[in-house]
Amino acid sequence: MPIQDIHEFVKELEKGEELKRVKIEVDSDLEIAEILRREMYANGPAILFENVKGYDMPVLGNAFGSMKRLEIGLEMTDFTEIGQRIVDMTKMDIPSGFLNKIKKLPELSKMTASFPKSESSGPVTEITSTSASFDELPILKSWPNDAGRFITLGLVATKHPETRVRNLGVYRIQIIDKTHALMHWQKHKRGAHHGDISKDKGEKIPTAIIIGGEPATVFSSIAPVPEGLDKYLFAGITRKEGIKTVKCKTIDLDVPANAEIVLEGYVDHADIRDEGPFGDHTGYYTPVEPYPTFTLTGIMRRKDPIYVTTVVGKPILEDAYIGKVIERSFLPLIRMFHPEVIDFSMPPSGWFQGFAIVSIKKRYPGQAKKIMMGLWGMGQLSLTKTLVVVDEDINVQDINDVIWAITTRADAARDTLIINNTPTDTLDPASPLVNLGSKMGIDATQKTKEEGYEREIQKQVKVDKKTENLVNSKWSDYNL
Ligand SMILES: Cc1cc2nc3c(=O)[nH]c(=O)nc-3n(C[C@H](O)[C@H](O)[C@H](O)COP(=O)(O)O)c2cc1C
Repeated sequence: MPIQDIHEFVKELEKGEELKRVKIEVDSDLEIAEILRREMYANGPAILFENVKGYDMPVLGNAFGSMKRLEIGLEMTDFTEIGQRIVDMTKMDIPSGFLNKIKKLPELSKMTASFPKSESSGPVTEITSTSASFDELPILKSWPNDAGRFITLGLVATKHPETRVRNLGVYRIQIIDKTHALMHWQKHKRGAHHGDISKDKGEKIPTAIIIGGEPATVFSSIAPVPEGLDKYLFAGITRKEGIKTVKCKTIDLDVPANAEIVLEGYVDHADIRDEGPFGDHTGYYTPVEPYPTFTLTGIMRRKDPIYVTTVVGKPILEDAYIGKVIERSFLPLIRMFHPEVIDFSMPPSGWFQGFAIVSIKKRYPGQAKKIMMGLWGMGQLSLTKTLVVVDEDINVQDINDVIWAITTRADAARDTLIINNTPTDTLDPASPLVNLGSKMGIDATQKTKEEGYEREIQKQVKVDKKTENLVNSKWSDYNL
């Protein structure tokens, strides 16, 4: 059975020697963040802080900060399986005729097993209250010049005001006082879109901030799932079993029943205030920008909740590993739209939106540019600043191989594509304006005559079979 919640995840991490407990008193103001960063930079374990000054609940950090921990949490080693399951669902034909339909039942039931299931109560409804305060939670201050305390791994639930499709997104939340916070959902994200639609209707958007849940639900909140796909369903597809949901008490929203804590309220896009600065995953403080307010109307929580958090900063930290899983899991979906794609990589030092590499099996002239335009038109890939396209013989996971391809197959004037005034990641410190900047595509595929390369294509140096076999057979004799 897939992992049900954070408590079970902690047990599994401990079994796999992937978690350590800190028993002495620690401060949620800067101290925990610094401990976590040191451990993250050193590829250290997840940490459960059991004694947090002034609070009665433990804090869990770096829980997703290694491939092994993500393998434990999502119970798989090949993350492309996630995207492949979605591709397979789109290919499933439902045959006509009763008997043929019966034959398809196992496949159909696999699909329906992933649907969310509504329950009347769950672990998160153990305690409910309408007099909630952010002060109850050990919310961290991460960097000395941060504007205050920020929830950094809250799964923010909203519902599309018209289609009712449910969303979960991880957006940082700056605490202003006991019941108010600022919701940092960036312009291009689904939460912000839902908020904009509500504002146009003159309404506030019901919003829940969820701490914890199944590891697959946490992952799904960060994954750039297309707008029309319910993230609760995506979480169920990821873990091959639908998640259980319960209704919030003060707003009309479903939330994961196995969460640790649910903070209920609404976001008002008409009440905009200054958010930040905050030390973010670019390695810089994002400056003060206007964001909408969240008002807390109620809380649901377990009797013994674990407060789940993360810290961000100059890569490579915990979010790099989650990004790797996103990269792997979305490859089959990229291939569904662009079958020539062989592999795809977003090196973590480029904080995901900054730099991506894609390899293709090139069949026709200009195909690298077709891929650039295609990927820049796909969901959050539209925010990717630099895109390098290489041939299928280049390993996109090996940056040296990629640099070799750029320097031997690309000519700066001919093969660089620059497009101005495009959407950019809100966090990009280099773009001339917030949310608007340029893109660079580098076509590092081998050019052909049709593409204007009139020279003879040079042969790659490769050893001949005879010499290779000779050296192989004598290798141990060389005594190297
Ligand atoms: C630790 C962490 C913090 C994040 N903080 C934010 C944030 O403050 N604002 C934001 O728009 N996206 C943030 N993201 C990225 C979003 O979670 C991600 O883009 C997600 O796909 C958004 O979901 P959506 O497509 O449903 O909007 C963060 C991701 C991680 C891993």
